[in-house]
Amino acid sequence: MKLTVLTNDLATLSTPALVLGSFNNGQLTPAAGLIDRASNGALNHLVSCGDLNQEIGASVLLYALPNVAAERVLLVNLGKADEFDRAHYAKSLKKAFERLADVGVTAATLALPEPLPAAMSVYHSARAAMLAAGQSSYRYTQTKAAQPGDKPPLDQLTLWVADGAAQAACELAITHAQALVTAVNWTRDLANLPGNICTPSYLAEQAQFLATQSPQVTVEILDADAMAALGMGAMLGVARGSREPAKLIVLRYAGGAADAQPVVLVGKGLTFDAGGISLKPANDMDEMKYDMSGGASVLGTLRAVAELCLPINVIGVIPATENLPGGAAYKPGDVLTSLSGQTIEVLNTDAEGRLILCDALTYCERFNPAVVLDMATLTGACVVALGHHPSGLFTHNNELAATLTAAGETSGDRVWRLPLWKEFEQQLDSNFADMANVGGRDGGAITAALFLGRFTKKFPAWAHLDIAGTAWVSGKEKGATGRPVPLLVEFLLHRCGLIG
Ligand code: BES
Ligand code: MN
Ligand code: ZN
Repeated sequence: MKLTVLTNDLATLSTPALVLGSFNNGQLTPAAGLIDRASNGALNHLVSCGDLNQEIGASVLLYALPNVAAERVLLVNLGKADEFDRAHYAKSLKKAFERLADVGVTAATLALPEPLPAAMSVYHSARAAMLAAGQSSYRYTQTKAAQPGDKPPLDQLTLWVADGAAQAACELAITHAQALVTAVNWTRDLANLPGNICTPSYLAEQAQFLATQSPQVTVEILDADAMAALGMGAMLGVARGSREPAKLIVLRYAGGAADAQPVVLVGKGLTFDAGGISLKPANDMDEMKYDMSGGASVLGTLRAVAELCLPINVIGVIPATENLPGGAAYKPGDVLTSLSGQTIEVLNTDAEGRLILCDALTYCERFNPAVVLDMATLTGACVVALGHHPSGLFTHNNELAATLTAAGETSGDRVWRLPLWKEFEQQLDSNFADMANVGGRDGGAITAALFLGRFTKKFPAWAHLDIAGTAWVSGKEKGATGRPVPLLVEFLLHRCGLIG
């Protein structure tokens, strides 16, 4: 996607489509006001006829407005002016780009709304518009060719702003959005790929591809023998039922001082989760190809970090395997010895995510991290608790919780914190090992997080993101979302002091 910013005369701007906003009370944004005056009141006339539906994101497409160079003008309803916030803005953007996609417009100009959404800067408003455009142009074509009638996606977006100060903020937003769009859409591609293509080896190849793209990225792949030599018994327990070789993928991005403690990102890379001997029901089991979304988001985030040459050290670790039933598969009742030395009684082979992650987390001790973040499609219980809007956030560290929550708000990739109280710990008690791998139905997302917490005690700061409800959408629009890449990139940009 080509992104640019402009601040010259709007009426004489030639563009295939000009996107403008209007609020429910008929109030046009200043940019829409300019076009209205140029066209002798065409937009006010339309609004006063009541033809612009009052629903947020509803729009009217106009052609050949007098004295306006744009081929088309899309007037979009932004809802009530006093309720205009990030959520209403996001919905308006999504619908506006859907409308343009229906038409098949490949280049468009969007005037940033004024007032800006509540609590949003020019930078964040501009970036949100560009990310929405980039996301709307995503097409999955890896195993399904474009159909004859398919319209081409938008591939060029220009932002129009009123003055030079806003333009400068937009330039920075463009740089960041460019990297973000590439990263998010790549993450979606990886996650959308089926389990027969996106295997642990395939993920390892993708990591190696990143290393070819950037001299600051190096990759190391540990195979089952290397993991066995280390003593990663929990990870290898899960891998036993699979014929696909398991991999521990380690990416290093060196952008900071050699001795600067890295940010370590750990992503669950379960390329297909059938549940193992504790087999999942058949319905919707295909969606368990998405169980590597955390790993894909680590790859995507590192890609953005490398593209932006962030002045920071980042390490990505992705334990990658399948979880399948079979004659060699691990079984309920089995006791595994983790890399940390702690033993784990497997009460349910479908609670495999925490088993591969616990060894990956212990492995990260060697990096002397400043902070460790892990992301995983870990529990159905998290979806029950929080639904599909926020990812679950778990951390003992209030400052990290506040930073991640704020990054979620400003990026629109939100999180909601759940407790890690020690009262829940006893649910993990086992008579035969240091802990069981499940803690029962009650508070299932919390006990899963507490399980991981037992392997993170040596880190100065750790947070776990349960992305089971946010990494993909089901139904007619089934597909990966690329979350939590926007959140992670926001967190890192902020940490580097590049954004407020
Ligand atoms: N990958 C699943 C979690 C999941 C399920 C995410 C459905 C999104 C939708 C995970 O490995 C799993 O199976 N978790 C179990 C844990 C249980 C056995 C304690 C779950 O959530 O049912
Ligand atoms: Mn599972
Ligand atoms: Zn899983």
